[in-house]
Amino acid sequence: MSDLKQGKILVTGGTGYIGAHTVVELQNSGYEVIILDNLSNSNIKILDQIKAITGKAPEFIKLDLRDKAELFEFVATYLDITGLIHFAASKSVGESVKQPLLYYENNISTLVNLLGAFAGRKVNFVFSSSCTVYGQPDVLPVTETAPVKTAESPYGNTKQIGEEILRETAHASDGLNVIALRYFNPVGAHASALIGELPNGVPQNLVPFVTQTAICKREVLTVYGNDFDTPDGSCIRDYIHVVDLAKAHVAALARMEAGKMASPYETFNIGTGNGNSVLEVVQKFQSVNKVQLNYRIGPPREGDIVKIWGNVDKAAAELGWKAELGIEDMLSSAWAWEKYINSNPF
Ligand code: NAD
Ligand code: WQD
Repeated sequence: MSDLKQGKILVTGGTGYIGAHTVVELQNSGYEVIILDNLSNSNIKILDQIKAITGKAPEFIKLDLRDKAELFEFVATYLDITGLIHFAASKSVGESVKQPLLYYENNISTLVNLLGAFAGRKVNFVFSSSCTVYGQPDVLPVTETAPVKTAESPYGNTKQIGEEILRETAHASDGLNVIALRYFNPVGAHASALIGELPNGVPQNLVPFVTQTAICKREVLTVYGNDFDTPDGSCIRDYIHVVDLAKAHVAALARMEAGKMASPYETFNIGTGNGNSVLEVVQKFQSVNKVQLNYRIGPPREGDIVKIWGNVDKAAAELGWKAELGIEDMLSSAWAWEKYINSNPF
């Protein structure tokens, strides 16, 4: 595959949770970054926080990817963009069930707009996909060749459709390289505690609910079921530190810039390869942070799969990337961020 000179990197959704951590790692690796975000699920103050970490505020353009004309105009004026990391999307499984059309508009139409704006240009494209495309795998750890199952939610479907659109478009274009990263469960925060997850309203995900319970913003954590077919009865997930995940995006860009791709479209599992149960996360959070967590066992959450963790050998072999931080780092950094944001609200 043809390699591209390292130019500016466009990061859509770059003031969001994973995007901000990736911008830090891109700047640390010497890239010039432009963030495009509509701030629908993030805060402009993140730019100051990134500058406090790296010494450099990335260029920022407030723009909604659903505004096709504005997006095309922006892309046409930035001819020095050679890489693109596409985080911008809506990501709540529950919300997607209630409002499927909002998800198809915000996760699919925006992707089509973005690909249209870059049509005919040579660009290295990294896509935020999700292990949710696997559903409940038949074999664990799950590999990239596992069958993609019928999505459990409109959100999960937008990731499956997004991968298909990118695969087909990459094969039909001569300048588009695509790497889709299938994230497992991103958690934790930058070691500085200056950036982290900023859930809107009541957190749907485990770790932000844990930290908000520990800081008494939430009264009690409900563990959704402890009677599953797992060692301690609670669900198992492959939690990955958001900083490790961010570094995987830099590795994906480097692979494309070096012309090492085996085909115009590739997918990689990005996880640790290890599974932790909900109750293990609860116990480890308490022990590593020396705090007591108020939790109870409740009924299973509809749509939850029981257990999943990734086979991450392909990323190690072909991206030269593997997770370095363990669950203790994830949970101590998440707690440090919770304490920071609680005292320094944006
Ligand atoms: P996030 O909500 O923190 O960040 C998304 C960013 O995109 C936000 O800053 C938001 O303002 C922006 N955005 C949304 N719609 C936009 C639009 N139409 N135009 C411009 N900007 C827009 O989410 P995140 O956790 O950082 O996730 C980033 C990506 O990773 C998403 O595509 C998500 O589906 C995917 N992903 C997340 C997880 C997870 O657990 N967080 C797991 C797997 C995959
Ligand atoms: C993890 C475990 C819950 C909250 C979701 C999306 C996925 C991706 C990551 C976007 C589960 C349990 C949770 C709580 C609990 N997002 N839990 N009490 O469901 O694995 O994945 O986020 O791409 O697409 O599906 O993550 O953090 O919601 O749940 O017991 O208050 O924690 O049942 O077993 P999940 P999660």
